[in-house]
Amino acid sequence: MRIWGPDRIGVRLSPMGKMNDIHDDQPEATFGYIAERLSDYRFAYLHIVNPAIEQMQRGKEPSPPALGMVETIRKKFKGTLMVAGGFQPDTAAQWLREGKADLIASVASSSPISICRSGCALARL
Ligand SMILES: Cc1cc2nc3c(=O)[nH]c(=O)nc-3n(C[C@H](O)[C@H](O)[C@H](O)COP(=O)(O)O)c2cc1C
Repeated sequence: MRIWGPDRIGVRLSPMGKMNDIHDDQPEATFGYIAERLSDYRFAYLHIVNPAIEQMQRGKEPSPPALGMVETIRKKFKGTLMVAGGFQPDTAAQWLREGKADLIASVASSSPISICRSGCALARL
């Protein structure tokens, strides 16, 4: 942080992520606290894996707990919030419009061509 400065550092978290038996029983409390503390550092952004990734990849509506997690992080983190995973151009545009996130990241499942056709703005990182 001393070399680059906080505005050139981003942090990525996976709230509600599960790996075999590894998961958090109280993700709202844990990740809400982490998001609040990360605000103090004034990083360039907080990047989270979409808590609703599995539902949205199957074309389903996000579950209330997953949406609650996004809302909690949005409220607690006072900076740029990026969300990744399970988005299509229309759902990405909707989340941005609704203010759930400042940026939607996509690297794998969404075709860049379909994103361009839909008129979403693309940023080169
Ligand atoms: C079911 C599922 C769980 C994932 N969990 C994580 C995770 O815990 N940590 C992580 O860094 N990426 C995880 N990823 C990868 C990214 O969140 C995401 O797939 C990637 O950024 C590409 O987004 P896109 O599929 O919308 O293009 C997961 C992906 C899937 C499909």
